[in-house]
Amino acid sequence: MVKAALFSHYIMRTMVKRVFFSTSATKLEGGVSMVQGASRGIGLEFVRQLLHRKETGHVVATCRDPDSATDLQKLKKDFDSRLNILPLDVTNESTIEEAATTIRDTYGYLNLLINASGILSIPNLLQPETTLSKVEKSSLLLTYEVNAIGPILVVKHMWPFLKVGGGTGTEREVAVVANLSARVGSIRDNGLGGWHSYRASKTALNQCMFILFLSIFMYFLSCYLHICISRSQLKTVLIFALIQFCIVY
Ligand SMILES: NC(=O)c1ccc[n+]([C@@H]2O[C@H](COP(=O)([O-])OP(=O)(O)OC[C@H]3O[C@@H](n4cnc5c(N)ncnc54)[C@H](OP(=O)(O)O)[C@@H]3O)[C@@H](O)[C@H]2O)c1
Repeated sequence: MVKAALFSHYIMRTMVKRVFFSTSATKLEGGVSMVQGASRGIGLEFVRQLLHRKETGHVVATCRDPDSATDLQKLKKDFDSRLNILPLDVTNESTIEEAATTIRDTYGYLNLLINASGILSIPNLLQPETTLSKVEKSSLLLTYEVNAIGPILVVKHMWPFLKVGGGTGTEREVAVVANLSARVGSIRDNGLGGWHSYRASKTALNQCMFILFLSIFMYFLSCYLHICISRSQLKTVLIFALIQFCIVY
């Protein structure tokens, strides 16, 4: 029984690796990371740390206007061969597609995606609301577009590279997606109110990522259960897995 369980587990791991983390991608030492929203703040620091902490590894740093991202350009001078700066505005899907095309042509895969972009306030355009009377449709829509819709679209377009990337060239076995949410996006933790647009957009981001997590988890779980239960009916299992794969992806 234990042997059967271990065997099933082994098959599951192998299958997951083969389906999602193909090793056919050319291995670049240190892997390839993408930081979206890298012109300043936390995103910029992620880029800096990824470049400084290891001697290998490529970083794709995206921002709306690379020419005006002076700190990123300074890093480029020091890490020219490892840092690739691309334009990407999360409110403009074609720029996400263009970045995806460049990543496909240059690297072919990704090991890490960090979505760091986000807005809370923009002078003369967007202010965190302190009362209901200050809530504007335009603020709600803009914040939602940048903080919730943007990251999920970036994940969508980078998904093919994350799938084939897996842990290629890194110590990990799987690729990682990290989105910078915020504690104020928690409904349970909301004891103060206010910041309608920002809070709601981060709550939406959390939900989008949880849906994505569940989709992947359910797919893996269904494969695992079917392999455990009906190892002797491998053909049926593989057909079921294929159907699941089509549904999820
Ligand atoms: N700082 C905090 O205390 C804190 C706390 C909780 C959560 N967070 C979250 O952590 C993330 C980073 O915060 P931060 O403090 O580093 O923010 P920040 O300094 O204001 O930087 C925000 C980044 O988002 C980019 N961005 C804005 N609109 C964009 C768009 N349409 N397309 C692409 N990029 C866009 C900005 O690029 P431009 O230079 O082009 O404007 C900038 O690089 C955000 O998601 C924020 O909500 C921050």
